[in-house]
Amino acid sequence: MTISFILISYVYTMVVHFTAALFTAYIVYTAKPWAVSALFPWHPVLMTVSFALLMFEAITVFSAHSSFIPLASRPYKAKVHWILQTLAAAFGGAGFAVIFVSKNLNHKQHFVTWHGIFGLITIIYVAVQCLAGTVVMNPAWIQSIKLAQLKLYHATSGLCLYTLACTTLVLGLYSNWFMRNVRGTSWYACMGVVAILILAVMNQIVTAYQTKQQITKQNATKSWKK
Ligand code: HEM
Repeated sequence: MTISFILISYVYTMVVHFTAALFTAYIVYTAKPWAVSALFPWHPVLMTVSFALLMFEAITVFSAHSSFIPLASRPYKAKVHWILQTLAAAFGGAGFAVIFVSKNLNHKQHFVTWHGIFGLITIIYVAVQCLAGTVVMNPAWIQSIKLAQLKLYHATSGLCLYTLACTTLVLGLYSNWFMRNVRGTSWYACMGVVAILILAVMNQIVTAYQTKQQITKQNATKSWKK
């Protein structure tokens, strides 16, 4: 590994984590849930902490280039991953409860916007993905599927979930509430952040599993030639 490669990796790591943290702080600052007595502002806050911060960190913990604990062992990273994902699911569940109760209190209809419908699907998907994650942690439960295959399915499904969550986030940025509070360059910057998050996750998962598949193919070719 050359010095310049290490330096570029380090800068990239700092940029993505800083971007995720800054975006979360910006949404908290914009919503100011402490300043009003209404429930609603907690919804964007809890959802952003859940998906842009906790879930993003939970996925990138495995990244070769942008893990915040690059020197930790794989089992340790797996432990950090499930702890962060559990927290992300808890924050997501709380964010969902907040908007649901808030709409009930204001006698508003449920799941009538694209954001609301995508949000509902995202929350259900999170629950399913968490359950599937417990199977990956206990591979003996399903003996007909190899652990490597289970991991591949879990990662692919995780990528689909994160893409869905980012789509919901983008639809949230298009909501009347957000567009009333944030305009111009700041609004475009928020869109840019969500694009960075999804690209970082896509790049990580696709690269990791492509490399693994190439190694498996090379090994298969070698043993076939022997
Ligand atoms: C991935 C993260 C998010 C999820 C899963 C999510 C989920 C949801 C759901 C399910 C509803 C509809 C609840 C109902 O109709 O009973 C909703 C409503 C709402 N959300 Fe989110 N949300 C997310 C992020 C955000 C963000 C970041 C913002 C603001 C920037 C936001 C703003 C709103 C607004 C204004 C409403 C009320 C209007 C509507 O129903 O579309 N959400 N959200």
